[in-house]
Amino acid sequence: MSASPPLALGVLVSGSGTNLQAILDASASGRIPVAVKVVISNRPKAGGLDRARAAGVPAVALSHRAFDGREAFEEALIGVLRDHGARWVALAGFMRLLTPHFLRAFPDSVVNIHPALLPSFPGTHGPRQALDYGARWSGCTVHFVDEGTDTGPIIAQAVVPVLPTDDEESLARRILVQEHRIYPWALSLLALGRVRREGRRVLIEGYEGASLASWINPPPPDGR
Ligand code: GRF
Repeated sequence: MSASPPLALGVLVSGSGTNLQAILDASASGRIPVAVKVVISNRPKAGGLDRARAAGVPAVALSHRAFDGREAFEEALIGVLRDHGARWVALAGFMRLLTPHFLRAFPDSVVNIHPALLPSFPGTHGPRQALDYGARWSGCTVHFVDEGTDTGPIIAQAVVPVLPTDDEESLARRILVQEHRIYPWALSLLALGRVRREGRRVLIEGYEGASLASWINPPPPDGR
């Protein structure tokens, strides 16, 4: 593990939290210098809260329904994150849109994972959109969150093929495996201070592009 101070992270979830689990596991094993300070869910029954508790991380349910409007809900989120010392925020299957009010409280410090190769197929049902469109490749994207829907600068992406036999579930599963790899990895790059933004482009210190590999789907006979 590196000598950098751990990234003090709050994670927002709405569902089962398998990405959260990947982050918790990578953090607990010392593979990434990230400390998960608190997990918050807008759905009190979200599996992500159980995963947090099992890992000994504070788990807070904040139902958006209990608040009078978006800003009041976001104020509560900001309060809980600050109370637990979170300096960065990772959205991991968090199904509420965040407004500029929230983003101003954590400037350039909110990231998200999306199950598509952005800028294609933002919003909900990324795998289904890729299938319906007939895309040959899909994947996942870790990006900074800005005021749009899945429009922020891209930190990392992983690519998977769309196979002729795929349905939404099989494609989503193939993508999810890669999500669990790139989210902890992207967070560790942030923790190590290797991520620099230049407008829309995100530069990774020490990475100049080692591989010039390319892939074709369906593959030509020589397989490349
Ligand atoms: C993932 O597909 C993620 O990309 C999307 O929501 C899903 C969350 O899955 N934003 P999980 O709760 O991490 O299992």
